[in-house]
Amino acid sequence: MIIAHTIEEARAAITDARSKNKTISFVPTMGALHDGHLSLLEIAKQEADFPVMSIFVNKIQFNDRNDFDRYPRNYEADCSLIEKNGCALVFLPDDASMYHDPKTFVTTESLDEYLCGAKRPGHFKGVCTVVTKLFNIIQPDIAIFGQKDIQQCAIISKMIDDLNIPVRMIIAPIKRDVNGLALSSRNALLSSDEKTRALSISRSMKGAENLLFNGERSTSIIADHMRSIIESAGRPDAIDYISIVDFSTLHPIDTINAKCIIAVAVVFGTTRLIDNMIIDFKEGIFACR
Ligand code: PAF
Repeated sequence: MIIAHTIEEARAAITDARSKNKTISFVPTMGALHDGHLSLLEIAKQEADFPVMSIFVNKIQFNDRNDFDRYPRNYEADCSLIEKNGCALVFLPDDASMYHDPKTFVTTESLDEYLCGAKRPGHFKGVCTVVTKLFNIIQPDIAIFGQKDIQQCAIISKMIDDLNIPVRMIIAPIKRDVNGLALSSRNALLSSDEKTRALSISRSMKGAENLLFNGERSTSIIADHMRSIIESAGRPDAIDYISIVDFSTLHPIDTINAKCIIAVAVVFGTTRLIDNMIIDFKEGIFACR
């Protein structure tokens, strides 16, 4: 595996791969890699000849300095893990090579008004900006993102479309541990009690699914039911949101009768966890994923 620390090194490796007619897939990450990221790498390997990952804790997408400082960093372990799992190139830039007093940013409108965007002003501007920069550096044919960050997926997909970025995006399903907790780099920050209480998030999703199966379509009834499941596991420190939003606008809906997303953000201790489920609802039949 090639480890590129600079943009020039990454570009040289990409030029070499292209000269051998290799197709390029790309998984951008902020490191602290886990099985969820490895499942994205698996897709990257299936979809192209030259799978690339980046590891970069992107300062400009954090609106809380403390969150940025304590974000888990484990570059050596990350590199050996992805090398073992068949990554061809990892791009590991530092702050100074990515940002020199930037004045240009990429932002999407209206898709960040609810869910995580509502409480994290500027977060998706930071994400879109870094993803655009990474696309320009790696120039992948295919990019893979995890469904767990569903708002990020929707915003990047719209950005790719609006800006005619020549990348095919794949949204990979959420990877969960045996107990149902969605895998996240932040899980490493949970105490064992918080981890147990956090299982109420996926239980609440199951609860929502059961209500849907039994014909319930009111989003307020479904959200209240989910809230009671999460609260009955011992009060979380904050339920940031339990929202049911339209799939394409990401704005809240009252009734489930078209493709939508049930999304949750809950704080346990000082760690904020997110999870979601996509509901595809067609002609009276729905599927959850
Ligand atoms: O999902 C993430 O880890 C980050 O938001 C991303 C896409 C790597 C951009 O920094």
